[in-house]
Amino acid sequence: MPQETSGNWSFLHVNDSHMGSPRSYRFRPAVNKRWAAIKHQMSQTNADLLLHGGDLTRDGDTHEFEYRQAAEDLETLPFPVFVIPGNMDVGNKHTTVNGTKLRWKGLEWNDPDWNMTERRLDLFSSYFGPIHWTFMHRDVRFTGFYAAVAGTGFPHEERLWSLLERLPELPPAKHHVAVMHYWPFMESLDEPDWDLTNGDEYDNWYFSINPPHRQRLWELLKAAKVEILFCGHVHTGRPVQIVDGIRIYRTQPAGNTGQLVERWPDADTRFGFQRCDVTAEGIEVTFVPGNDQCDEFGTFGPLGHPTVNERDYSVAQELPPLQPDADALS
Ligand SMILES: [Fe+2]
Ligand SMILES: [Fe+2]
Repeated sequence: MPQETSGNWSFLHVNDSHMGSPRSYRFRPAVNKRWAAIKHQMSQTNADLLLHGGDLTRDGDTHEFEYRQAAEDLETLPFPVFVIPGNMDVGNKHTTVNGTKLRWKGLEWNDPDWNMTERRLDLFSSYFGPIHWTFMHRDVRFTGFYAAVAGTGFPHEERLWSLLERLPELPPAKHHVAVMHYWPFMESLDEPDWDLTNGDEYDNWYFSINPPHRQRLWELLKAAKVEILFCGHVHTGRPVQIVDGIRIYRTQPAGNTGQLVERWPDADTRFGFQRCDVTAEGIEVTFVPGNDQCDEFGTFGPLGHPTVNERDYSVAQELPPLQPDADALS
């Protein structure tokens, strides 16, 4: 039945497309190829809009070029796209306590040092718009935010809380869909405040929002009557989890490889996107696998978060090589 007469319509969600460049010190062509297939498939739907849950880039925190590349790529889609950043775009959660950067000494890379900056958040916004937003479309309210700003003390954190606190007073919609990048928690709301200086807890710290921000966030999502919450970042799909009436979708990635996959027997490591069909009965979320689930090929450069000084741009396979931005995180 044509959409116009049935009243049914759809929107899409995607995350962790991680588009990179052969002009960089590292590149994984398979990630770009998987994403290109997913993007093409999405463009063939008659969706009203797309929500992108962050990590649009491989190294957007270092290369403004990658913001421009991702923005121009999304502009080719035939519907509007609403974007929040991920940590690979703007930097990680803050780890500085009383002036000291905390880290797990056994960690082989530097992501705890990759604390996000106001400058990087604002640069991202200059390409993709505000990092926190809410709007209504038809009978659905959509809210996106970068919860990892919690604890930074930046104006972006003040904006996060003030927006979330205002949600119950905004015009009500039949449904409320929210998008964040990190998982709000690994398994349960009351799990511990994971210690990033402890190797056994490091991954849990890296992938989730820590207390007290986690609980504050959750209470606000409940008060705003959020029905569906999408989160990515781990690159590993898990079955929907319902907590306090909120359906949490820990979604499959749109190009980058699954992490922590050995933890859960039902972990889904496929690449793809979520199609969300809105009918009189509610919103049905369906995972659509990408048509190109290609294996890794042609990869060069290091993984992890090497410091700018440790990077070798002479290995770039397309010229001219990128250069780190003058104010890149390092
Ligand atoms: Fe990611
Ligand atoms: Fe991420």
